[in-house]
Amino acid sequence: MERILIIGAAGQIGSELTVELRKIYGNENVFATDIKEPNEDIKNSGPWAILDVLDVKQLVHFVIRYRITQIYHLAAVLSGNAEKIPMQAWNINMESLLNVLDLAKEVEDIKRVFWPSSIAVFGPTTPKDNTPQITVTEPTTVYGISKLAGERWCEYYWKRYGVDVRSVRYPGLISYKTEPGGGTTDYAVEIFYGAIKEKKYECFLKEDTYLPMMFMSDAIQATIKLMQADPGRLTVRSSYNLGGMSFSPKELADEIKKYIPDFEITYKPDFRQAIAESWPRSIDDSVARRDWGFNVSVDLPEMTRIMLKGVAEKFGKKLDI
Ligand code: SER
Repeated sequence: MERILIIGAAGQIGSELTVELRKIYGNENVFATDIKEPNEDIKNSGPWAILDVLDVKQLVHFVIRYRITQIYHLAAVLSGNAEKIPMQAWNINMESLLNVLDLAKEVEDIKRVFWPSSIAVFGPTTPKDNTPQITVTEPTTVYGISKLAGERWCEYYWKRYGVDVRSVRYPGLISYKTEPGGGTTDYAVEIFYGAIKEKKYECFLKEDTYLPMMFMSDAIQATIKLMQADPGRLTVRSSYNLGGMSFSPKELADEIKKYIPDFEITYKPDFRQAIAESWPRSIDDSVARRDWGFNVSVDLPEMTRIMLKGVAEKFGKKLDI
């Protein structure tokens, strides 16, 4: 029987992943932890605790006490926020991963680890369109540097110690249940709040900035699929490219206008424009498709509909679309 620890369960990915994993493995077997309290649904549906992944003693106790067999380590400082506190972000992102990898190496019960990487491992010298699995990786953000170093450590722990760690390079993740925090791709979530609340949005990226994106349900399905895959089929132990869809702020705004015709978008690029420009516009994810059957089902029109409805509901509005 699996007993799963989620680190970062209060975050954008963790809050939805916890729910899905509880459906599969049983509520009582999925332990939701974070340095802040998760939402009520998570607190009421299964075990949860405040846990700081940087506190090794606390982490070891937790894992041994609850006989944890799998860890999903999702806690991180995202790209925009990391640029404001580079050394702190580096320490948090790296130390937390190394704590988890070391734990998996030492504690026999732990059979599998998931850790997310990002399109941020790529940089200005990477081919921007249909970016291959193996290519130039010269990230220029502290977040990207930490993710790239993290990928190397994951592969190292796999090769050297046999730690079964699995990873994907998420593109920008779009969801309405829990808001993201401090990322460069966050405009693609904020825009829906602007559209529903006041029919306008000031975008911090230029109108023609293409970035790879994915709707959260596809990201969650991919994550679970990878974690359930036969280890013998996995040829990548650093991190798998994941594509999804690619669009610009203008294209997203045009899609929203189909439902809210008087929606207005204005552009005021800030420091995150340079980050976005250093990342790919689209991703080649054929290796993930081949190795473990990665696929996506939500496209831009579908995602726009789900987001508008979901965000509207949060504000007590009902959209018949
Ligand atoms: N969505 C993340 C960010 O913008 C990228 O991994 O920071």
